[in-house]
Amino acid sequence: MAKSISASAFGKVILFGEHPVVYGRPAIAVPVTQVHTEAKISFMPNPSVVIDAADIGRHYVLRDAAPDDPIATITRLVCDKLGVEPKNFSIHIHSTIPVARGLGSGAAVSVAIARALAKYFLTTEVAESTAGRKKISPPSQVKLTNEVISALAYEVEKLHHGTPSGIDNTVIALERPVYFQRDHPVETFRVSRPFLIAIGDTGIASPTKIAVGDVRHGWEKERDRYERIFDEIGVIARDARVAIERGDVTSLGSLMLKNQDWLKQIGVSSPEIEELVDAAVGAGAEGAKLSGAGRGGNVIALVDEETRAYVERAMKRAGAKRVIVTEIK
Ligand code: PMV
Repeated sequence: MAKSISASAFGKVILFGEHPVVYGRPAIAVPVTQVHTEAKISFMPNPSVVIDAADIGRHYVLRDAAPDDPIATITRLVCDKLGVEPKNFSIHIHSTIPVARGLGSGAAVSVAIARALAKYFLTTEVAESTAGRKKISPPSQVKLTNEVISALAYEVEKLHHGTPSGIDNTVIALERPVYFQRDHPVETFRVSRPFLIAIGDTGIASPTKIAVGDVRHGWEKERDRYERIFDEIGVIARDARVAIERGDVTSLGSLMLKNQDWLKQIGVSSPEIEELVDAAVGAGAEGAKLSGAGRGGNVIALVDEETRAYVERAMKRAGAKRVIVTEIK
């Protein structure tokens, strides 16, 4: 009985609070539904697990994977949680989320695989052909909630960089705007007036681990200054949440610009980011800032129906490799 089951996960952007969120301050992140990762699980008579991530040119067998391989790790964690042995299936991954650009590609891969494996083992019996005889293994009895999937994906995030805040796996597993603070219960919240964000890609891959590591070195050297900046950004994230809940979209623009200034001061902006921020604001965006780890990755800009086309064009002229406009709701 051959079968295939697919599941997917959206990308995300951090609107406010990246970096200080690693140090316990609040941050806001939202799903980006224009990009996603899809994982397909297919039954295989061969008793191994084959991983095929053609987008990144990788094709390998689970048992040969390195101990810190993210795809192998989430596969083992999920199978363990479901109480099933990882064997007799293949995993195909296809993603439209660019890697290392602050759009949550790593967490989306983990969440998509977890959802697909959960669906595969929960909903259907798996028939194995053993020496010509059909043996039916019962479906797993364990249900994976979004919270459990988020927690498993968090384990994998630790492989990407040692001290993840957990915001990426949370927003991607919950698929809702989140107000996230480490070691606090996750809060989802209401966007009372939907608004538009243009996301411009600098085209520069920026591994989160390096930017987070550099911020840590800065913090170790100048702890008081960094702590003060983290507090300022934390207040911005709190104010932004209030503004979003009240439908006070116009004040978000100046909060974004303030947040960007502080991010510059902790050294995670870059000339390419600054160019996109300036281009977006010059073309009519109410505010703009980097999103994610910085140094490259994406710049987000607050636009509306009138300014979106101008901002998109200006960001492209200033070097953006692509611009996505997404509605936050
Ligand atoms: O993984 P990225 O690029 O979306 O950035 C994550 C945001 C940081 O605050 C820099 C790190 C973290 O773990 O929250």
